[in-house]
Amino acid sequence: MSKRLIPALLVCMLLLVACGQAATTQAPVEKTEAPAEETEAPVEETEAPGVQVEVFSWWTGGGEAAGLDEMIKVFGAANADIEFVNSAVAGGAGTNARAVLASRLAAGDPPDSWQAHAGQEIIGTYVAGAQIEPLNDLYESEGWMDVLPDTLIPLISEGDNIYSVPVNIHRANVMWYNPTVVADAGVEIPTTWDEFFTACESIEAADKICLSMGEQWTAMHLMEVVLLGELGADAYNGLWDGTTDWGSDEVTAALETFNEVLGHVNSDASTLTWQDAAQLVANGDAAFNIMGDWVDGYFSGDTTGGNLGLVPGEGYGWAPPPGTDGVFQFLSDSFVLASGAPHPDAALAWLKVCGSKEGQEAFNPVKGSICARTDCDADLFNVYLQSAMEDWATDIVVGSLTHGVTANDSFKDEINTALGLFMGDLDVAAFQEALVAACSSAGPCQ
Ligand code: GAL
Repeated sequence: MSKRLIPALLVCMLLLVACGQAATTQAPVEKTEAPAEETEAPVEETEAPGVQVEVFSWWTGGGEAAGLDEMIKVFGAANADIEFVNSAVAGGAGTNARAVLASRLAAGDPPDSWQAHAGQEIIGTYVAGAQIEPLNDLYESEGWMDVLPDTLIPLISEGDNIYSVPVNIHRANVMWYNPTVVADAGVEIPTTWDEFFTACESIEAADKICLSMGEQWTAMHLMEVVLLGELGADAYNGLWDGTTDWGSDEVTAALETFNEVLGHVNSDASTLTWQDAAQLVANGDAAFNIMGDWVDGYFSGDTTGGNLGLVPGEGYGWAPPPGTDGVFQFLSDSFVLASGAPHPDAALAWLKVCGSKEGQEAFNPVKGSICARTDCDADLFNVYLQSAMEDWATDIVVGSLTHGVTANDSFKDEINTALGLFMGDLDVAAFQEALVAACSSAGPCQ
């Protein structure tokens, strides 16, 4: 949690009513005329009560914070009168941030705008919970229907209402590798899981980790990639619309493969962030890492921003994970407008930047993602991201589970609980039973 957020949260918890009232007005005068307790607020609150926008995300680390900073600069240049309050909470994939956000929303204390994944995370969670506002007017005034892909709009809409502003497209199914480790072990880049297991034998014989992994959400990320590779795009999609039976033999086989893959990861995975796990590849301790292309931002980004400054194609390579060539497993980060946002006009000014060409061209090359907009200048992007642009245009597109596209929070939480148990006992049959039950209680099998 940012240091700024702690006093702000405490004040809001103490003054829940006052904070709620602030939602209806942006007039700075309100702050100075506030009740006596408010004078105990941090000095900046009382002395600089100008208009703010509070934006909530989980972009605090290598690659991610640097990308957000670029977009904040664009925002600042156009909105000198609005103070940008960056309430990012650390933790990959939003695991910590989303818990903090959920308690703030439950307490009626929303940030003005927050990071949310296109797909079920928005529709099945925030729209279903009446926590965000439609943005149709903004789409109209900014002409975004003409520059956002048709595939994306339904994932952020319910009925005629559009609920978020996508800033990027990320690819989840990427296998990053260390070219030297792979060459020294004398292996080819595997295209099937069987080839992968054979490659691991040589890599492990050379005393290297075959596949680096981090904390539990990265295991879920790996699992969805293995399911995709083993089931193929159609049957993978069927897991999320109820047409693939979670109890079927093909799912058993895919989970057995996942189990075998886990036999080749580093033993300290649960203690590592995604950056730590990716760094094992960069350092030459591991051959492969399966992770979304925020890794590209981390690997290639400037070292002053906590990134590794590697040259794509030299310091690191990439390939589709086994069985997923020709399929782009996507996710999209977007920003929403809170219902009851304390500063709705300032939030709209932020969202305008999120959807703009200038904002997306500043953000994405640093973040390690491609623009959600279709009109960004490809020359601004590195060789990996240019390859992702081509694949996005030509591949079969499927959604990510871990990053909010295919399942709402309840279904995903149940899968995550089952996964946590599985990581402890590696009992495939029990895991599959728990997944079948999750689909029945919270997924499309209800
Ligand atoms: C994803 C998010 C990405 C990246 C990643 C790792 O959920 O969409 O932008 O931040 O988590 O933190």
